[in-house]
Amino acid sequence: MLSAAQKMQYQQDGYLVLPDFKSAQEVATLRARALEIITTFEPPPKQTVFTTFEQEKATDDYFLGSADKVRCFFEEKAFDAEGHLRQDKILSINKIGHAMHDLDPVFMAFAHDAKLAEVADNIGLLEPQIWQSMYIFKQPGIGGEVRWHQDASFFETTPISVTTFWFALEDATVENGCLWVEPGGQRGPLRERFTRNGSKVTLETLSTAPWPDDHTAIPLPAKAGSLVFFHGLLPHYSAPNLSPVSRHAFTLHVTDGRTQYSEKNWIQRSADFPVRGFR
Ligand code: FE2
Repeated sequence: MLSAAQKMQYQQDGYLVLPDFKSAQEVATLRARALEIITTFEPPPKQTVFTTFEQEKATDDYFLGSADKVRCFFEEKAFDAEGHLRQDKILSINKIGHAMHDLDPVFMAFAHDAKLAEVADNIGLLEPQIWQSMYIFKQPGIGGEVRWHQDASFFETTPISVTTFWFALEDATVENGCLWVEPGGQRGPLRERFTRNGSKVTLETLSTAPWPDDHTAIPLPAKAGSLVFFHGLLPHYSAPNLSPVSRHAFTLHVTDGRTQYSEKNWIQRSADFPVRGFR
């Protein structure tokens, strides 16, 4: 599947863009299913009286409980000061996560793909394990920024193996908040670690190495159907979407089963819901 030149490019830059990886039909089917999920989504009841602490705890529980479920999350800017949605619910959802690839037949079909298995194999992910799926809406006008980070902060393995598979489901442009990366940045240190201890999560600083800036970062515009995959240490970012056009994307986070998956990672699987690969 990947040529020798592409493999070399991936080694060098830490990412690769494969245009036309998914067909227009596959993209349309996934988009339609996501729309169905958010249309039928009933937001969890808001506590009428709450302390900030209780609200934060409820938010954390909802997030942590989504590791093996299909849950919808609102954009931070979706609500006005009175707590009402600023725009229609389907234009207010930030993402769906985090186990659609193992629970929803349409998402399962998209993720369990022989072509993806081949790409994984080509870059040395010999026992791929898909821990997480996210459908990201990056809504027009309110789609929030995702600050610079490395995905290895969320999926620690020894040695580091996590690789992100990012699919453009609409044309991603600089205007609507495409990915930005630092080519070669995967050779830098892991800067943070996000861990879970029971119902508590912590973001720990491991290195104060600076994040990329305008001189070292480049945007990765990608046409709908493109696959962008990148190394877990590659710093990446996406700007807020201030444009009138949404920027839907789907991501899979995949480690190598031959490595040691940390017990502190926020997503764990029980024996009756084992982690699986692309086949
Ligand atoms: Fe990321």
